[in-house]
Formats: sequence, structure tokens, C-alpha cells
Amino acid sequence: MTEFQSSATSGSAVDMLGIVKDFDTFRAVDDVTLKIQPNEFFTLLGPSGCGKTTLLRLMAGFETPTTGSILLGTKDISRLPPNHRPINTVFQSYALFPHMTVAENIGFGLKMLGRSRSEIKVTVDEMLRLVRLEGRGDSLVTRLSGGQQQRVALARGLAPRPQILLLDEPLSALDLKLRQSMQIELKRLQAETGITFVFVTHDQEEALTMSDRIAVMNAGKVLQVGSSRDIYEHPADRFVAGFIGETNFLQGDLEAVDGMSGTVRLKNGVRVSAGLSEEAPRHGAITIVIRPEHIEITDVGAAGSIAATVATVVYFGTDTHIHTHLADGTPVIIRQQNRRDGSRAPQTNALIGLVLPLGASQVLRD
Ligand SMILES: Nc1ncnc2c1ncn2[C@@H]1O[C@H](COP(=O)(O)OP(=O)(O)OP(=O)(O)O)[C@@H](O)[C@H]1O
Ligand SMILES: [Mg+2]
Repeated sequence: MTEFQSSATSGSAVDMLGIVKDFDTFRAVDDVTLKIQPNEFFTLLGPSGCGKTTLLRLMAGFETPTTGSILLGTKDISRLPPNHRPINTVFQSYALFPHMTVAENIGFGLKMLGRSRSEIKVTVDEMLRLVRLEGRGDSLVTRLSGGQQQRVALARGLAPRPQILLLDEPLSALDLKLRQSMQIELKRLQAETGITFVFVTHDQEEALTMSDRIAVMNAGKVLQVGSSRDIYEHPADRFVAGFIGETNFLQGDLEAVDGMSGTVRLKNGVRVSAGLSEEAPRHGAITIVIRPEHIEITDVGAAGSIAATVATVVYFGTDTHIHTHLADGTPVIIRQQNRRDGSRAPQTNALIGLVLPLGASQVLRD
């Protein structure tokens, strides 16, 4: 373990307890309770305006909670000013100092902390290596590309060895290729430094690929916290299911329950079986949620299948998306991986049977 890691991992989790933030009469953060673990790559994901930046600003100390408290380990930091918290922020806009060199930018926080010139030089050199900008310390930041400037901003945030690094949509200004390579860089930096990262994005794919755990937010509330797989495969409600990836919703009534599965009568009268999690409702109007890649295609009329008409078939290279609709008009999308052996997708206007495998569907209260 490097010195960098040992100083960072001594940090503790962030505990947010019943956080409310009101701006006049508007509630931007609505009773959020979250525990972020040490060394975690934790992501806040949600649509624009749901309160992600406000939550980060509360952690950083740029805002004070209306009610609730924020603990770092056992210490209540809710009312400490930002410079007294072992927390740094990397902003979306980089916010670099344009008249300074790369090294001066990276060393700025250390200088403010009163560190010696020799210590600053050692740390800045280490940071330059970490973000792969060796030899660029004397360049003016304005001479660097967008991706390089982003890495300087990261190095500046990491240099004082904060316990927590907050990153507010740090990649959104980059083009797709650069963004993808910076996603890998960020994962590497987090693993190498052992610093807890709290990352904000509204890009669900970015959240799924980068995070140890994700908190999905909407309208100031945290709706679900879990690993990427948890959130994708077991969304807690309709909003989460619809926000993360493409999904199908089939409405119906839960007619009979047998242990962990149930018989659902769909709106069009067809009966299908569906798996029931512990939290699933046990009767009444429900929605079956199923991912497009989990639906199987069979012959129309096959036992346990639902009849559907193929509307369009779209070839995507790695897979094919088959847009269908049921007799009552409910749209259902199926995704099939393309194989070299050339198993063929159904044709437009074909009548096919859809099978919802028991373990792949999820039943949510309507
Ligand atoms: N200082 C403020 N005064 C009044 N309202 C505010 C203030 N800061 C944020 N808000 C409101 O709080 C809500 C949440 O804002 P926030 O910036 O946290 O959203 P966000 O999830 O970061 O969105 P985005 O993805 O667009 O960055 C918004 O409706 C915003 O208008
Ligand atoms: Mg924001």
C-alpha cells in the first residue's frame, strides 16, 4: 500500500441522515438518508433538476441542510465550512486557473494549506504521473486539450489527499471517445488512490459501468440504492425501471399466488406466470417489468406464450431490436443478440409468441 492509499483509506464513510434542503418554498432534497462506504465508487444518478448537485454541495459544505445531519465517520460535519472538510470537488466546468501552469494548478490547494515548496513539488510530480501528464507540468493549462484539462482538474482535486472526492458530471463536456477513455481512467484513479468517489451523472450507462453502487434519484428523493446489477435487474419501482435501460411494462391483475410466483391476467385477457420477489405485491393491479433481452420468441400459440405482431425490426450490428405490439396495442420490445450462425429475426407483420421467463420478469405495484 502506498502512502497515498494509507492516508486516504483511514477516512470514513459519509452518512447522510434525513437530509432536507429547502430553497424558500422549493424542496430540492427531500429526506435523503444515504451511507457511502470508504473506498467506494458511489454514483448519484437521476434526471436534470432532481437534486444531485445540491446533494454534492451539501456534502462539500457549500450549502447547509435545512434539517438532517451529515457525518464523516462519527463526526458531524453538517455545519463545518468547506475548507474544514476533508472533501474536494471536481466541477463539470474544470474551473482551472487559466493564467497558471499545469503544475501550479495541481499544487494550488496544497499551497493554500501552507505546505512546503518541496512537499508540493513531490506531490505534484506524483499527481502528474497518476493522471499521465508527465512532462507537461510547465505548460499553460490553456494549451491543453479538453481531456488533458479534465485530468488536471482531477489531479488538483486529488492532490491534497481528500478522504472524499466529489465529481459533478466531470465528463459531460467531452466527446464520446474521450469520455469512454476517461471513464476507465477515473476507475483506475479511484482504485489506485483508495479515495471515496461520489460521482454525479445523468447518463445511466456511465453509472452502470463505473459504479460500485448507485443511488437513483428523482424529485429530491433517493428511490433506490444498489449495485448496477441490482438496479438494472431488480428496479424498486416504475421510475427506476424506466430510467435505467430500456424496459417493457405490461399491466395486469395478479389473480393467484403460489409461493414466489403468481398468475397474472394481462389487460388483453392472456394469463402468464411471473416471479414474485419478497417485496412484490400479492394481489391487485400490477405491472410486469421485463427487459427486452430477457424475452424469448417462440411460435404463436405455443403454451404459455403471448401473441404479438412484429411492427419493425432494427439491425444494430451486435443485436437486433424487434418492436412488436400485443393485441390490445401494448408495445413490447425484444432484443436478440446477433450470432454468426445467422439465426434469423422475425419479419415485419409476422405473428409471433413471446415468452416471459419466470426469473426474468419483475412484478411491481401498479
Ligand atoms: N440556490 C438555489 N436556489 C433556488 N433553487 C435552487 C438552488 N439550487 C438548486 N435549486 C433548485 O433545486 C433543484 C435541484 O437542482 P440541482 O442543481 O441539485 O439538480 P441536478 O440534479 O444537479 O440537475 P442537473 O442534472 O441539471 O445538473 C432544481 O429545481 C433547482 O432549480
Ligand atoms: Mg447538477
